[in-house]
Amino acid sequence: MRDTILVTGGAGFIGSNFILSWIGAAGARVVNLDLLTYAGNPGNLSSLDGDSRYQLVRGDISNADLVSSLLREHQPRAIVHFAAESHVDRSIASPGAFIRTNVQGTFVLLDQTLSYWSKLSEADQAMFRFLHVSTDEVYGSLGPDDPAFSETTPYSPNSPYAASKAASDHLARAYHHTWGLPVLTTNCSNNYGPFQFPEKLIPLVILNALEGKALPVYGDGKNVRDWLFVEDHCAAIRAVLERGRVGETYNIGGNSERTNIEVVKLICDLVDEMRPALPSGPRRNLVTFVKDRPGHDRRYAIDASKLERELGWQPGERFENGLRKTVRWYLDHSSWVESVQTGAYLEWIAQNYTERLAI
Ligand code: NAD
Ligand code: DAU
Repeated sequence: MRDTILVTGGAGFIGSNFILSWIGAAGARVVNLDLLTYAGNPGNLSSLDGDSRYQLVRGDISNADLVSSLLREHQPRAIVHFAAESHVDRSIASPGAFIRTNVQGTFVLLDQTLSYWSKLSEADQAMFRFLHVSTDEVYGSLGPDDPAFSETTPYSPNSPYAASKAASDHLARAYHHTWGLPVLTTNCSNNYGPFQFPEKLIPLVILNALEGKALPVYGDGKNVRDWLFVEDHCAAIRAVLERGRVGETYNIGGNSERTNIEVVKLICDLVDEMRPALPSGPRRNLVTFVKDRPGHDRRYAIDASKLERELGWQPGERFENGLRKTVRWYLDHSSWVESVQTGAYLEWIAQNYTERLAI
């Protein structure tokens, strides 16, 4: 077994931030298995071009032969599994891909990993880790005064995305419980930061505000999310990978509950501050309440005290500061923005917003 890790979905938002931070901190080799769907962008990792510590393999986690041959060839000491279909609205529009990648793909990956792991020496088996990256959405929705989700909150997924992630969590658990595969699972709240595809609330609003377009807020805008800066998430994953107890799950959150309308207004003010005013006035005037997401979860909040107690991790970034850095990043990376605002992005915006904005 080598000092290599296999990352799946490493060309997406969190995966690419993780690979950059992993190579920066640990300096060890990373093989990135990514299908490069609309959400995967090899350009996120262009700073590693020519670096022998990084290799991208374009392929599907559901391809058992490919996964098996990569494991044999690279002999990784760990797998960090990010690959997924990740956007809730798309799971409502077309759930099939979520079942294929998130459920079937995770099954294939676990199954091939089990077969690789069973042939390792006892010492290597004890060192090996499979870290399954999941979401707080598996726990369902909270009322305004409910306590935050803990690791023992019963699963209650509400969207096809959340249901597919819940299924994958159960599979990961079963591979540990049945065969002893050294699995760790993390359930994280909403991430924000550089390289997030602009179908998600924060980058979508930053770019629309910049261009003076309508800012679509679903329903009454009072749904609450617990925002976590992506670099804090990456640090938490590194801690769990290195020191987490095998078979355990760890919640990761930002201690930053905000309503969507608060987030959108804050972005408007930051863009107003960093860019010239629009003839139509402050960007808050662009806020447009639109038809709600069906089954829209009202509130998520994470209790991450287990991670703090056991591994000493806490989020480092205050939300207002992380958001300022994020707005600045999107304004400073116009060529990245142009490169992703193409075919699949334009199709999705037309599909998801034409009817909503006509209301
Ligand atoms: P993303 O959509 O930005 O990236 C997903 C990546 O997976 C892309 O690079 C895509 O090409 C790749 N991929 C998709 N299907 C694949 C397949 N069949 N085989 C190989 N690669 C495939 O997602 P993200 O926001 O970076 O999320 C990463 C993980 O973290 C997901 O598992 C998601 O459920 C979880 N998560 C995300 C958040 C968040 O706020 N973004 C919060 C908690 C958990
Ligand atoms: O909680 C973790 C989850 O966070 C992850 O598992 C998902 O992969 C990730 O996409 C995210 O899910 P959300 O549905 O919470 O994120 P999104 O950015 O799509 O939406 C955030 C909130 O903003 C949500 O309440 C819906 C609302 N929203 C979203 C969009 C895209 C709007 O009001 N308008 C919009 O145009």
